[in-house]
Amino acid sequence: MTDSWNAQRYQSQHAFVWEYGRGLLELLKAQPRSRILDLGCGTGQLTAQIAEQGATVLGLDASSAMIAQAQENFPTLEFAVADVTTFSLASLNITEPFDAIFSNAALHWIKPPEQAAERMFAALKPGGRLILEMGGYGNISGIVQATQQVLQSWGLPFSHPWYFPSLGEYSQLLEQHGFRVQMAQLFSRPTRLEAGRLGLENWIRQFGAAWIEHIPLERHSEFFAEVADLARGTLWQEEAWFADYVRLRVVAHKL
Ligand code: BEZ
Repeated sequence: MTDSWNAQRYQSQHAFVWEYGRGLLELLKAQPRSRILDLGCGTGQLTAQIAEQGATVLGLDASSAMIAQAQENFPTLEFAVADVTTFSLASLNITEPFDAIFSNAALHWIKPPEQAAERMFAALKPGGRLILEMGGYGNISGIVQATQQVLQSWGLPFSHPWYFPSLGEYSQLLEQHGFRVQMAQLFSRPTRLEAGRLGLENWIRQFGAAWIEHIPLERHSEFFAEVADLARGTLWQEEAWFADYVRLRVVAHKL
């Protein structure tokens, strides 16, 4: 995640990110006084719920805008800016490794994933748990296809900045880095976007900002209208846009 994040828009229009993350908290079931690392904590809503379970939690995010908002939202909790591919206990001034790492809707932004797996492994105690959810294989393919088609027809560059692995690929990657995978699930979760007709546009402004950076401001509405025309058949239902999310959920242990 980079500092192009708009933390206020994120928390006012994309609450579904942490609302769906509550299911993942049930897999975490943090023990009172256990030490949990929340990787890619965004504006801190799930970090706060982990703290409510009685655990001591540190929220990390690569975006200083997200961390500033998280700290403002939850001033008694601990947050820090850190890059998942390079962080270490030493860089966080911590001596004791964590009992568990929790990560919701963040690891698909992190490349290379091998480095993230290595850093997560190093930050856990032996026997420590990794509980994560991220975009999995096929995630947002409808949004990606419509956007790519419009950008190409406009002669503009298209990028796919995410990592959406299959269940087998990600399980293997974790196991190659010393984890034992106990549970892995890949499932579709069409996700209703807020703001009615503006839902898809808002989603792209928040999460696909790179797609619109070469489009002059005065052509944004034309661009969004073309993307909407292409996506409507599959992603517009019951007067709302649905992002075609595919989730990968994993529970793994450090051996
Ligand atoms: C996701 O949570 O799957 C996601 C969010 C933003 C961009 C790409 C994927």
